[in-house]
Amino acid sequence: MKIIRGKSEMRAWSLERRCAGDSIGFVPTMGALHEGHASLMRASAKENRVTVASIFVNPTQFAPHEDFNAYPRTFEDDCRIAEDMGVTAIYAPEKVSLYPDGYATYVNVEGLSEGLCGRSRPIFFRGVATVVTKLFNTVLPDRAYFGMKDAQQCAVIRRMTRDLDFGIEIIELPTVREPDGLAMSSRNRYLTPEERAQALAISRGLFKAESQMKAGERSAESILKTVRDEMAGLNIDYIELVDADTIQPLERVEGRALLAAAAWVGKARLIDNIQYEVPTS
Ligand code: PAF
Repeated sequence: MKIIRGKSEMRAWSLERRCAGDSIGFVPTMGALHEGHASLMRASAKENRVTVASIFVNPTQFAPHEDFNAYPRTFEDDCRIAEDMGVTAIYAPEKVSLYPDGYATYVNVEGLSEGLCGRSRPIFFRGVATVVTKLFNTVLPDRAYFGMKDAQQCAVIRRMTRDLDFGIEIIELPTVREPDGLAMSSRNRYLTPEERAQALAISRGLFKAESQMKAGERSAESILKTVRDEMAGLNIDYIELVDADTIQPLERVEGRALLAAAAWVGKARLIDNIQYEVPTS
């Protein structure tokens, strides 16, 4: 597996692969890889001739008071996992190469970026959309893979890819969970054993609400109450039912609904969601 640090080297490598007729799959990450990332890499390696995974802790998606400095950096372990999953090349640029002095250009996906996580992290999606644009422009992939745990991020990237005519296929894969239901996240490493046990209230609440929806409940109020009751012991950021594409609040479950929750557990801000598509009869 090749490790590429330079922007021009990355672009040249990708152009060469494209000229040779190889399809390029791309898995953008901030490292601290877990089985969720591994599932994206595995899928990409299966569906494309070559796979590039990026490892870059992107400063522009963190506010000054957030965990940019503390974010786990485990480069050697990450490379081992990526290689095992069939990744062909790792792109790990330096911060100064992506954001040199005088950097001034940002991508903002209006509307989708403001609700849910955007409320407590107002610059987050601008940072994500900007870095993903820069990575797309360098890696030149045919397909890019994202996890549905970050459902709002997926909606932002889908819309950005469409609006900016990237011509890249966005593939979203299901959230990978621990056997007890906890959604896998690099930030789970921050949890003490007690906090980890408390964090299970998030997935428990979402699963209960999912059963309610499957049984025919359509009132957002009733569904949100179920999750709120289950998560009562946590420091809740939000629990919301929204349309999965527009991220606009729903009063009733309809179309493709996204039930999303975020809470602080100890030092970790955790997010999770389930998506439910109302069957058309
Ligand atoms: O999901 C992530 O890990 C990050 O937000 C991403 C897409 C790699 C951009 O930094």
